Amino acid sequence: MTSVSRIFVIGATGAQGLPVVHGLVADGRYSVLALTRDAGSARARALAAMGDVSFLEGSFADEAILREGLRACDGAFVNIDGFNAGEKTEMYWAIRCYEIAIEEGVKFFVYGNLDYTLKKAGYRSTFRTGHYDGKGRIGEWILEQNRSNGDRMGAALFTTGPYIEMAFSAQTPMTPRMEDGVLTWRVPLGAGAVVHVALKDCGHYVRWLFDNPDRANGMDLEVAIEHVRYADLAAAFERVTGHPARFVDTDLDTYFAPLQAIAALPAGYNADPNDKATMSFRDNFTGFWNQWKYDVIQRDYALLDEIHPNRIRSAEEWMRREEQRAKEAGTLTLWERMQPENLSKRPILKLSEDHRRGAL
Ligand SMILES: NC(=O)c1ccc[n+]([C@@H]2O[C@H](COP(=O)([O-])OP(=O)(O)OC[C@H]3O[C@@H](n4cnc5c(N)ncnc54)[C@H](OP(=O)(O)O)[C@@H]3O)[C@@H](O)[C@H]2O)c1
Repeated sequence: MTSVSRIFVIGATGAQGLPVVHGLVADGRYSVLALTRDAGSARARALAAMGDVSFLEGSFADEAILREGLRACDGAFVNIDGFNAGEKTEMYWAIRCYEIAIEEGVKFFVYGNLDYTLKKAGYRSTFRTGHYDGKGRIGEWILEQNRSNGDRMGAALFTTGPYIEMAFSAQTPMTPRMEDGVLTWRVPLGAGAVVHVALKDCGHYVRWLFDNPDRANGMDLEVAIEHVRYADLAAAFERVTGHPARFVDTDLDTYFAPLQAIAALPAGYNADPNDKATMSFRDNFTGFWNQWKYDVIQRDYALLDEIHPNRIRSAEEWMRREEQRAKEAGTLTLWERMQPENLSKRPILKLSEDHRRGAL
């Protein structure tokens, strides 16, 4: 397959998009056209400082904008924000995006995917997770389309999972709290494991997909650091920082009790609350936690070792690298970052920074 040079990125200013764009442009190999609703945001400015990055202002929920961006590029990285659009709308625009990309002559298309949890759990509704299934269904559809379209436009899935950074950040499903001087994760995980992903490694993986189109065409690259059990996460935190931490298994009612204000709201902030297809925050995140608690999701770590020999291989390694980085940069240590006054300052998700608001 021909390699591409200019990549249209949807979701560039997001938690995932920032390291992905960095991986593409930092050494000058690719240029990026980043879609954003606000090219003046602090995150857009951070992107501009990374290298050859220009901006297209508009929404992924706009055919003319998609067409303009895709026409100007020969590659695409598409991470459509389901927490904005909601499951149904996300699926529609993801399909249109793939179709328009072919029509406009894109040569390689990477779809920011999540596991099709419902299918992987045997279609049992207790595992239904709108923001996973909405991507996972389209991921399968893209690979199926690619069987007949793969010579005209290559396509690959980049299947991720909860960022490990979210276990150390405010306003996420796994935000820890400082309780009597002990860093405490209270989540409904039992003895299960979250298949956490390191954001930094996303840059390497997506770069690899664009650099190796022949092998990547038709591939579902499912990534993770490791299966992270939270008792192990807490123990690793104690070893790395020398400060106490613990995991407290929690039933779902107790977990959602402090979240009453949003539990009944749509998981996607612009999804229609009166549409019976719209999943509530509580229903969505019940399926989310069940998939980890019952070990539904698997990864091929040997493949990841091959594609990214220097990948982060454990939550403990991720923490050690964070501590090293803080030491070199003279910034806050992990323990300092987890103090309440600091934790709230640095939400990892743009969605949290924007207080779950913004145009579709
Ligand atoms: N949280 C996780 O652990 C995780 C892990 C894997 C995958 N995901 C999935 O990733 C997606 C969100 O990306 P993220 O994790 O990077 O979250 P994020 O930090 O909240 O970023 C959201 C991104 O989506 C963009 N966006 C939102 N609405 C848009 C619209 N209408 N048109 C164009 N761009 C729009 C935002 O751009 P502007 O604000 O600049 O317009 C921003 O770049 C979700 O679908 C989520 O399910 C999340």
